[in-house]
Amino acid sequence: MITIKSNREIELMREAGHIVALAHQAVADAIKPGISTQELDKIAYDVIVSHGATPSFLNYNGYPATICASINEVVVHGIPNKRTILKDGDIISVDIGACFKGYHGDCAKTHLVGHVSEEVKQLVEVTKASLLAGLKFARPGNRLSDISHAIEEYVSKYGYGVIKDYTGHGIGHALHEDPAIPNYGPSGRGVILKKGMTLAIEPMIALGTWRVRILKDGWTSVTIDNLPCSHHEHTIVITDDGYEILTKIKGEEIDV
Ligand code: MF3
Ligand code: CO
Repeated sequence: MITIKSNREIELMREAGHIVALAHQAVADAIKPGISTQELDKIAYDVIVSHGATPSFLNYNGYPATICASINEVVVHGIPNKRTILKDGDIISVDIGACFKGYHGDCAKTHLVGHVSEEVKQLVEVTKASLLAGLKFARPGNRLSDISHAIEEYVSKYGYGVIKDYTGHGIGHALHEDPAIPNYGPSGRGVILKKGMTLAIEPMIALGTWRVRILKDGWTSVTIDNLPCSHHEHTIVITDDGYEILTKIKGEEIDV
């Protein structure tokens, strides 16, 4: 069931989104060659709890950390670890969720570590731009899959792989609510978007194949060709004439 959020609920999600954005900023400021993903996890944890929120991912289906830290060929769900150290030329996707007074915000960004090849830089830029291409269709009256289709169409010009094993999702009182939001497929399908729907839209785009496998830890998802993958995600609410990004620092203007 897809729920329509009240103004009170949306305000709590704005607050959750603000805290997620603050955690992202603190992590982004710390990213440099030599830092471990466990240190990044601690930074995000401290920001979230000091603002009266709880990390959405910690203990979710047994997930053992605050953030997902997915380096290079890791698609999603990279588990922070003190032996996983960032090095020059890496990309790292950081995914953070926070729950404030019972409502979640969920946001992922991919960062460059030092000097990254032009080819991989483009992958990261196109992934971010594909989210914006999808968001252009996020407005009342459109169909859910208009967003999905726009993401795939944008990415297809570059020949990248659109990850199919993971999707975006509704979000609110639960981290994952209906509907699932694939990053591919024909337009004109799925529910009609309505004001007050809250959605997490999250293209995961690979330089090579979209096919993934899960490592023995049961979480870490990697591309089977070991080529890098990028991830960009925002939580949004459908408004009267479009959408509002909820996972941003209050008062800040962002495109995507
Ligand atoms: N952004 C991801 C998602 O929405 C992160 C979930 S990680 C998990 O599915 F640990 F919570 F599963
Ligand atoms: Co998500």
